[in-house]
Amino acid sequence: MQDYHEFLKEILIPEDLLQTRVAELGAQISADYLGQDLLLICILRGGVMFLTDLIRNITVPLAVEFMAVSSYGTGKRQSTGHVRITLDLNTSVMDRNVLLVEDIIDSGRTISEVLSFLSTRHPKTLNVCALLDKAERREVEVPLRYRGFTIPNKFVFGYGLDIDEYYRNLPFIGVVDLDLYRSEVTT
Ligand code: IMP
Ligand code: MG
Repeated sequence: MQDYHEFLKEILIPEDLLQTRVAELGAQISADYLGQDLLLICILRGGVMFLTDLIRNITVPLAVEFMAVSSYGTGKRQSTGHVRITLDLNTSVMDRNVLLVEDIIDSGRTISEVLSFLSTRHPKTLNVCALLDKAERREVEVPLRYRGFTIPNKFVFGYGLDIDEYYRNLPFIGVVDLDLYRSEVTT
């Protein structure tokens, strides 16, 4: 795989700004859920880095669960919207305060499918916390209670977000120069 320096167009959100904003979100969530029990559901894999930083900034008692979803079809750098649950929860959400933690909302199709899936299991409350919001790409309306940053329509990577499953470990959000990135994925 290439060194990311070869195709990094710009650093969109540097590490210190990410950490500051994540701390603010954690404080806001702590205030909003004061005195209540909280279940955070992280959608694998992009949300993991955000989740682990976020929960260190939340002060109310909380539990963490994971779900994985995959899109049917071949949409290359976009989801098709037909979502299949590939890893289901190990716990009941019935009568619990559920907060979904996502890396990025793009068309909104993935998260809305997950929301309708979870709502059939009757949580007490069901909300979404997304680090990034590519608002201009939205195709279906998504109720976003917590939003880290609104970003332009550019393909980004780092801080949990991947390009062909790599580069999730970088501590900042970068923009890919798609002319310089050489995909090694053959499909
Ligand atoms: P949606 O269903 O179109 O909202 O797509 C959401 C999913 O697409 C996210 O959870 C990401 O996995 C992926 N995605 C969308 N935009 C980007 C991006 O710029 N970089 C990396 N992944 C992205
Ligand atoms: Mg994702």
